[in-house]
Amino acid sequence: MPDTPDPVGLLEGLHSTPARRYLADTPIPEDVLWELLDAAVRGPSGGNRQPWGWLVVTDPATKAAIAPFYVEGWQRSYGVRREELLHPDRDPQPPTGLSTSTYRAVEHLAHHIAEAPVWVFPVLPGAAGSQDKRLGGSIYGAVQNLLLAARAYGIGGVLTSFHLTHEQEVNALLGLPEDAATMGLVPLGYPTRGRWAQPRRRPLEEVVFWERWGETRNRS
Ligand SMILES: Cc1cc2nc3c(=O)[nH]c(=O)nc-3n(C[C@H](O)[C@H](O)[C@H](O)COP(=O)(O)O)c2cc1C
Repeated sequence: MPDTPDPVGLLEGLHSTPARRYLADTPIPEDVLWELLDAAVRGPSGGNRQPWGWLVVTDPATKAAIAPFYVEGWQRSYGVRREELLHPDRDPQPPTGLSTSTYRAVEHLAHHIAEAPVWVFPVLPGAAGSQDKRLGGSIYGAVQNLLLAARAYGIGGVLTSFHLTHEQEVNALLGLPEDAATMGLVPLGYPTRGRWAQPRRRPLEEVVFWERWGETRNRS
């Protein structure tokens, strides 16, 4: 486990930071966590208001109380579709949606999320009930910074949301103010399976339009 960052190049790093969901329970040193959060807060926010708070949870009791809500969220959205999504006739690597291996990884994390040594909740006080379409824009860039900085230290994670099936209960367990919203739950830990590989995406030429919506170009 490196306590100094891997000097991976910026582009190389962002091309090789997939979601990591098989995480050891090995603790992450606190000074490394500070480094990761220091990189996170370099992310953008509207008017540089930095409306956020970053709640770091390591207490096994808090994690144990929230983990069942997370499994329930997973069960409702993906667990119920297990047979369909793992069906042998289904394309194991569809162009969009979960591949078979990702499905299994999501399922694994759902059952083991409490083992991840650190959970980071990116929180926006004042955001509960907001209809502002730009809301997430003021925190998700910073969340991605967090994941990229983690990658430099050999630490994996993923932005997750299944805890939101019990948002009020989670907020109460975390002691959040009434008007605050968790914008995700990011489990962090040293990966035990998988690798730093380029995330699979739809072909670029299919999703990039030039001058007017729908006008594609071949990449030169
Ligand atoms: C808004 C949002 C919510 C997500 N919620 C979850 C979640 O609850 N659990 C999970 O395992 N992954 C979750 N993910 C991670 C996505 O599944 C992941 O980003 C996607 O599969 C691409 O992964 P890759 O970069 O490894 O290809 C979420 C991602 C986003 C952006």
